[in-house]
Amino acid sequence: MPKPYVPNDAWSRKAAKEGYRARSVYKLMELDRRFHLLRPGMIVLDLAAAPGSWLQYTAKCIGSKGRGIGIDLQPIKPIAENVRTFEQDIMDTNAIQKILAGEKVAHVDLVLSDIAPSTSGVRDVDQWRSIELNQAVIAVADRFLKPGNLCVLKVFRGADFDAFLRDLKHTWDDVRLAQVQASRDRSKEVYIVIRKR
Ligand SMILES: C[S@@+](CC[C@H](N)C(=O)[O-])C[C@H]1O[C@@H](n2cnc3c(N)ncnc32)[C@H](O)[C@@H]1O
Repeated sequence: MPKPYVPNDAWSRKAAKEGYRARSVYKLMELDRRFHLLRPGMIVLDLAAAPGSWLQYTAKCIGSKGRGIGIDLQPIKPIAENVRTFEQDIMDTNAIQKILAGEKVAHVDLVLSDIAPSTSGVRDVDQWRSIELNQAVIAVADRFLKPGNLCVLKVFRGADFDAFLRDLKHTWDDVRLAQVQASRDRSKEVYIVIRKR
């Protein structure tokens, strides 16, 4: 039987030491350094936020005047006073709209998504699922961002990637790709930062 995966690389150890729930926080930190994503007072929607390391970092950056809203299939343990979280499938975009209406949020300043499908092991299936999930993220971002605001996506590269990127470039501005240092060497993931037209 294959050994269970034990996350014990340098990034995971650093995250544990610094009190972050996941090593992925260093991906957001790098993206923030490169794209200047987070500022005090922002309303930030994190789609696929569990266990919550991006929200932990976001909470610090946006400060007490900002608001973080995190959504995931999995429950998220409380993060901070300026963050609220919800258990919800993001494919149900009507449900997301209801959550934001309940929070009295008409627009957000930034959409973050580090979404990853539960992997089947079949590369093309996983890649297609990643694109399908991202299409739901984009629909929500399109509905709640104002022109000029940014959205961060994570997509698995594969057969459909180029067509996905081409479509994005037709409807969003400044489509920029980013590999980040904390991604695992074998990972096919790429982050994409897009600006609402
Ligand atoms: C890599 S993790 C996100 C890590 C997070 N950025 C952090 O820093 O803690 C990917 C997340 O995507 C979520 N996810 C996958 N499909 C989803 C869906 N349809 N709706 C909501 N969340 C989903 C998973 O439950 C998982 O928590």
